[in-house]
Amino acid sequence: MSTIFSTLFLVLASPILAAPNSYPTNESYPHPANGICIDYTVKEEVTWTKSIWGIPKPKNNFDIAALRISEGALDYDFEPISGYENATSTYQLAGTFCSPSKKVGNKEKTVLLATHGGGYDRRYWASSYMPSKYNFVQYALENGYSVFYYDRLGTGQSQIVSGYESQGANQVELIAKIASSIRSGRYSGSIEASKVVLVGHSLGSVFSAGAIIKYPSIAEGQFAAGATSLTLKAGLSATFQNALLASTVNPPFKRDSGYVVIGDIYAHARSFFSQPFDIPTLEYAQSIVQPASIVEMLSSANVKFDESSYNGSVLLTAGEYDILACGGNCYPRFEYGVQNKTFPVAKPLETYIHPGAGHGVNFANNATGFYATVIDFVNRNI
Ligand SMILES: *[C@@H]1O[C@H](CO)[C@@H](O)[C@H](O)[C@H]1NC(C)=O
Ligand SMILES: *[C@@H]1O[C@H](CO)[C@@H](O)[C@H](O)[C@H]1NC(C)=O
Ligand SMILES: *[C@@H]1O[C@H](CO)[C@@H](O)[C@H](O)[C@H]1NC(C)=O
Ligand SMILES: *[C@@H]1O[C@H](CO)[C@@H](O)[C@H](O)[C@H]1NC(C)=O
Ligand SMILES: *[C@@H]1O[C@H](CO)[C@@H](O)[C@H](O)[C@H]1NC(C)=O
Repeated sequence: MSTIFSTLFLVLASPILAAPNSYPTNESYPHPANGICIDYTVKEEVTWTKSIWGIPKPKNNFDIAALRISEGALDYDFEPISGYENATSTYQLAGTFCSPSKKVGNKEKTVLLATHGGGYDRRYWASSYMPSKYNFVQYALENGYSVFYYDRLGTGQSQIVSGYESQGANQVELIAKIASSIRSGRYSGSIEASKVVLVGHSLGSVFSAGAIIKYPSIAEGQFAAGATSLTLKAGLSATFQNALLASTVNPPFKRDSGYVVIGDIYAHARSFFSQPFDIPTLEYAQSIVQPASIVEMLSSANVKFDESSYNGSVLLTAGEYDILACGGNCYPRFEYGVQNKTFPVAKPLETYIHPGAGHGVNFANNATGFYATVIDFVNRNI
């Protein structure tokens, strides 16, 4: 009896127990099959205003839990940043430029510059798992556009700085530098880029918006997913509700205490997916999880965007059940007009909600329907 029970338990339990607390990180960054792709090491110098961490640094996962509680208690002034200093820094990032193997008109001269959000690296845009369903880069290439996608500072194959140094301000400056360098032909192979569109997911949308608002001439427009407004006040946002220090997972990421991961595969499901969960897709997404800096999440509030002055084209999108952008229900946000308050003079200003999706729209059901909406916006407006 007990043998049968334990056998049954093992059979049922082993596939589930194998995945959650381990991070079988994958070191492979395959190119989409329909592109002419080049890997670049981006090296740019930026001048930026650094936020100084002013409270004791977290030492363990109880400190991370405590940080999340303090941030969640918005009725008192919790302020981990104690001051600012100006800095000039040179950073190295890993990026990939792809132009379409099969040209469509002259569209390859328009480069989509894609910036991923917190929790992943550039593979968020270029899934090697079922690419015909989940690979945004492949979809854009098929439609004739070129794409530059890169690992943000502190993720993937890019330079790993302290988590207290990877911030909003330096990443905004990096996006502006990368966009300008693409326009001057530095990271675009043999393609002479005539237009650049900033494409962002989540925190990547916030930083992209920060760059185009500060330097409107770097790009012809922007598309932001998983963002309905641009200020995140918390360092550990709703998607990082179950965050763990990146150095404490198995195998550990080589990061200091300024970096967290989103948690186990169930935390990942809650933060980025929606029901019914597609478990193989979730498992792939978990295999490309990357640490995120607690200060970069906080500092979007410290970059001080003035989005009210931006008059270029904007597409704001979110998944229907996006927990970060809308607290789990996005339709009312756009019905109440949050987009008009965020971008009062942007023209055109369009919105789209992807039905049934959570925060991680690129891995959602019918993601290609979402990609089609983005490409349609670029076709019509850029
Ligand atoms: C940073 O430099 C700017 C421009 O020179 C200056 O206005 C600002 O006060 C400086 N900030 C700090 C914190 O030193
Ligand atoms: C890593 O990703 C590559 C490309 O998708 C895949 O072929 C390989 O099987 C993966 N490796 C592991 C250990 O999952
Ligand atoms: C849009 O904003 C830019 C500066 O950010 C300004 O130079 C331009 O005149 C504005 N265009 C319109 C149509 O208001
Ligand atoms: C947002 O602004 C546009 C253009 O002014 C207007 O047509 C639309 O009704 C507004 N939407 C909401 C929900 O207020
Ligand atoms: C996929 O999304 C697109 C864009 O919203 C939509 O037009 C299409 O009907 C959707 N397809 C399915 C099967 O849901």
